[in-house]
Amino acid sequence: MTSPVPWVLVTGGATRLGRAISLAFAAAGWAVAIHHRHSAAQAQALADELRARGTPVHLLCADLSERGVGARLLSELPAEASAGLRCLVNNASEFTEDSGWDCTRAQLERLFATNLFAPLELTQALAHLVRRQPPTHGAAPTLPVPLALHILDQKVDNLNPDYFSYTLTKLALQRAVGLQAQAYAPTLRVCGLSPGLCFVSGPQTEDNFERARRVNLLRRPLDPADIARTAVHLAQTPGINGCVIPVDNGQHRLGLARDVMFAVDLGLAP
Ligand SMILES: NC(=O)c1ccc[n+]([C@@H]2O[C@H](COP(=O)([O-])OP(=O)(O)OC[C@H]3O[C@@H](n4cnc5c(N)ncnc54)[C@H](OP(=O)(O)O)[C@@H]3O)[C@@H](O)[C@H]2O)c1
Repeated sequence: MTSPVPWVLVTGGATRLGRAISLAFAAAGWAVAIHHRHSAAQAQALADELRARGTPVHLLCADLSERGVGARLLSELPAEASAGLRCLVNNASEFTEDSGWDCTRAQLERLFATNLFAPLELTQALAHLVRRQPPTHGAAPTLPVPLALHILDQKVDNLNPDYFSYTLTKLALQRAVGLQAQAYAPTLRVCGLSPGLCFVSGPQTEDNFERARRVNLLRRPLDPADIARTAVHLAQTPGINGCVIPVDNGQHRLGLARDVMFAVDLGLAP
């Protein structure tokens, strides 16, 4: 008996890092459910590109800040994707600048909804889905247990108070990795992946980005493909569970007092 094609669902999977992750899974032979919110045109272009290479694709649109989005999104998958779903990548997040002095309840609620509650809901919905799936007979023992993968940020191991609300959401999601791995064992694996700076972010200029992206132990730009390849590796390696892997050229070991985009202009970065 041949194994069914494994499916991955990538939130925010149409652009930037999410797009790199969608492409990496497709290159590894996975079918891809690409979630998007506003980037419908980019999602359609990526779907066309992947289908032309023979990858099954399904597009999903949702605002992840809405309550109940996790179960709703998974219920919108077609039967073959639902039956074959082996990985969820919680990649989408909102990155908005604030500080401990000016963060508001409204901003905290919006960022926690998108960056924490949606990944938690989606992971719970995936655990329920996997538990309902019938065993795939002969293929089951050779397949890795499905994985929920939270995309975090090297900031969680390199704290500074910039992007205060965003950082809080990622810290909570980092701690959820171990808790959820325990809660959903042996049905589901849960891991985290903490990228370093790899795309122009927030108010960054291109010049600032070009300098900031080299502020890491290797002093060279981080390739988004490294992060995407690691996501595929985690999904395909049965023994990895309950851990967080940094993929950041060692950025989290630098210990900057400010976010790297500010540190380079203030002369705080090496
Ligand atoms: N970029 C970096 O250098 C960097 C560094 C460290 C960590 N990370 C982490 O890596 C991940 C990807 O980074 P990125 O820079 O590629 O992300 P991004 O461009 O800031 O956001 C990715 C996608 O998230 C979606 N999104 C945001 N809010 C949403 C909402 N309320 N509902 C539904 N979708 C929503 C957007 O989809 P639509 O466009 O369809 O609206 C957006 O395209 C994030 O988790 C980020 O925290 C990134």
